[in-house]
Amino acid sequence: MKSIRAFAPATVANVCCGFDILGFAVDAPGDEVKLTLRDDALIKITSITGDGGKLPREADRNTAGVAVISFLKSLGKEQGVDIELIKNLPLGSGMGSSAASGVAGLVAINHLMGNPFTREQLVAHAMEAERIACGSAHADNVAPSLLGGFVLVRDYQPLDVVKISTTEKLYCTLVHPHLELKTEDSRRVLRQSLALKDVITQSGNIAGLMIGLTKPDYALIGRSLKDVIAEPIRSAFIPGFNNLRKVAIESGALGCGISGSGPTIFALSENEAHAVATGNAMQQEFLKHKLQSDVYVSKVNQEGARILPD
Ligand code: HSE
Repeated sequence: MKSIRAFAPATVANVCCGFDILGFAVDAPGDEVKLTLRDDALIKITSITGDGGKLPREADRNTAGVAVISFLKSLGKEQGVDIELIKNLPLGSGMGSSAASGVAGLVAINHLMGNPFTREQLVAHAMEAERIACGSAHADNVAPSLLGGFVLVRDYQPLDVVKISTTEKLYCTLVHPHLELKTEDSRRVLRQSLALKDVITQSGNIAGLMIGLTKPDYALIGRSLKDVIAEPIRSAFIPGFNNLRKVAIESGALGCGISGSGPTIFALSENEAHAVATGNAMQQEFLKHKLQSDVYVSKVNQEGARILPD
């Protein structure tokens, strides 16, 4: 086989209380990559669509390219590849856009090479792509995009990634206001040290969320969707943030927060009707601040990135 296409889903990193250590994947939207093996050793981005010309075309500066380069280097292969990238995810949205491109590239090259690596082993290569995209090799987008479902990054040194068995009933609403926030900038504003009381609150909520997801206990999930680390600072970048939460809860969502580094807002609901109502209510709320937005309602994805048929 010389050519293959792969899809990698959008992800919600942090999930409020799991800053840099928790994320989940949604069924859609996501990015697509087509890889074609070359007869030489060059790794080339041959086309990118959907990015408005904003992404780097050099393979070593683009997340799909960096992920493929890291993979081939670790295999010790002098194999060249042409990379076509179809961006369906908005840039700087907090929906794991850079991660999805890297993950789609990795799943495709792994398949073309006969699947020498497990999905878990691909996480480290995808993290290298994140480092290029935003200066930080966090795994809370790439791990769920690769593995599907909710994924805990228990530790980074050494990397310990744990997929959480949870209910398949959860629906996610993503509301993406037409604003662009660079992850690098959203990370720079965060405090480097925390008050003990905030560590206690955050620890209680992450433990509560883990238990709520595995039981499942929907009320506990809702009570645990709180963030005292990043949200108090980052919410200043999102017009009307407090009202967005209020209307989401009034519409039946279990809870909501900033998706990754924002500005997209995510909400979790127990059923599709609540997820749709939440999306409509948050969209109306953004309009009060003269912000257009896109709404995506999707089940929590369980499988992660996948190979697409020809
Ligand atoms: N955990 C990362 C952050 C996710 O919040 O900066 C970035 O998408």
